[in-house]
Amino acid sequence: LRVNREPDPIDIRHRDGVTRVRFCDVQRLRSELPADAFVITDSKVREAWGEQIAGTRRTLVLEPGEETKCFGSLELVCRWLAQNDAIRSSVLVALGGGVIGDLAGFAAATYMRGIAWIQVPTTLLAQIDAAIGGKVAIDLPEGKNLAGAFWQPQCVWIAVETLRTLPTRQFRNGLAEAFKYAFALDPGLLNDLQRGDLSWDAERLPRIIRDCVDLKRRTVEEDEFDRFGKRAVLNFGHTVGHAVEAAGGYGEFLHGEAISIGMRLEARIGEALGVTEPGTEERVARLLSAAGLPVRLPRGLGGSQLMDLMRRDKKTARTDAIAMSLLSRIGECKLVPDVPYEILAKELEAR
Ligand SMILES: NC(=O)c1ccc[n+]([C@@H]2O[C@H](COP(=O)([O-])OP(=O)(O)OC[C@H]3O[C@@H](n4cnc5c(N)ncnc54)[C@H](O)[C@@H]3O)[C@@H](O)[C@H]2O)c1
Ligand SMILES: [Zn+2]
Repeated sequence: LRVNREPDPIDIRHRDGVTRVRFCDVQRLRSELPADAFVITDSKVREAWGEQIAGTRRTLVLEPGEETKCFGSLELVCRWLAQNDAIRSSVLVALGGGVIGDLAGFAAATYMRGIAWIQVPTTLLAQIDAAIGGKVAIDLPEGKNLAGAFWQPQCVWIAVETLRTLPTRQFRNGLAEAFKYAFALDPGLLNDLQRGDLSWDAERLPRIIRDCVDLKRRTVEEDEFDRFGKRAVLNFGHTVGHAVEAAGGYGEFLHGEAISIGMRLEARIGEALGVTEPGTEERVARLLSAAGLPVRLPRGLGGSQLMDLMRRDKKTARTDAIAMSLLSRIGECKLVPDVPYEILAKELEAR
């Protein structure tokens, strides 16, 4: 995956200044990361890119997987920093997917009350979503991302070529979020996405990643701390998707797979409410299936089980209705503050 021309950088403005998102190749990355940086990564990423990116920099290698985003790892990272004499002016580098980014970012936010950090996202999902916006967190046994902070990285370095070693399933996982941006915000992006297999397209892929980063930048700048519901537009597919993910015990489906199913079902719910243009569900389903993503609930997962999980999913006190970000048409979405549970139950049961 050779990228001929790197896309232009994107600057994200926030409370503490500006985070520049730069596109570069691995070689440049290796030479520009601070020589005395503290690198956090996981063993798979280390194997694929550690040598070429981190080189001889001090590196802490963690187990791959969501389980790593826990208090135990946070302690490990902070103590490793302390034992290696990291000081207030030290720089942490998160080299990996969203798990490493969220964990290392939270460690950066808390170690010595906050040190600088750089994100080097190596999954498609992290490049277009997790690494952008300054949300960092770990999971608790009681729920995902329950302890965290807003802590913007100094900069984000995106080396698109690192995706070369990403397993197909993980690539598609990120693709689901790209479709989410397109469905919710950008019909032009959808045109780019639907033109066949993207995985090795060295021209199209960097452009698509940049478009997604820019869409996320817009919503983050409007609502850095997620207070005004502006970031909620990025939640299309996620209300149902989170429930699907939780129903599978976070094992059966990857996040992107679950929201792919969620996007189809939320298009359906939108159509039933008269919010979403008729025919949207069918088109959403066709596009996601063509990209190799699932759009159907697995056998045995019923509407009532999903409803229970959605009710439990934080952020809502109401018992009769729920706020959802639904499409008005493809490329446009709006927040519907009061989707009645009754309609949800009916559409999810019929699917
Ligand atoms: N902070 C945010 O705003 C935000 C947004 C979305 C998701 N997230 C979080 O991101 C996490 C998911 O991120 P993810 O999907 O990147 O998962 P991940 O970090 O677990 O990476 C997926 C797998 O790919 C491997 N991998 C990573 N880069 C690779 C490469 N270049 N080549 C080969 N293998 C590679 C990893 O070792 C891992 O096994 C979740 O914890 C989620 O909560 C955070
Ligand atoms: Zn998501």
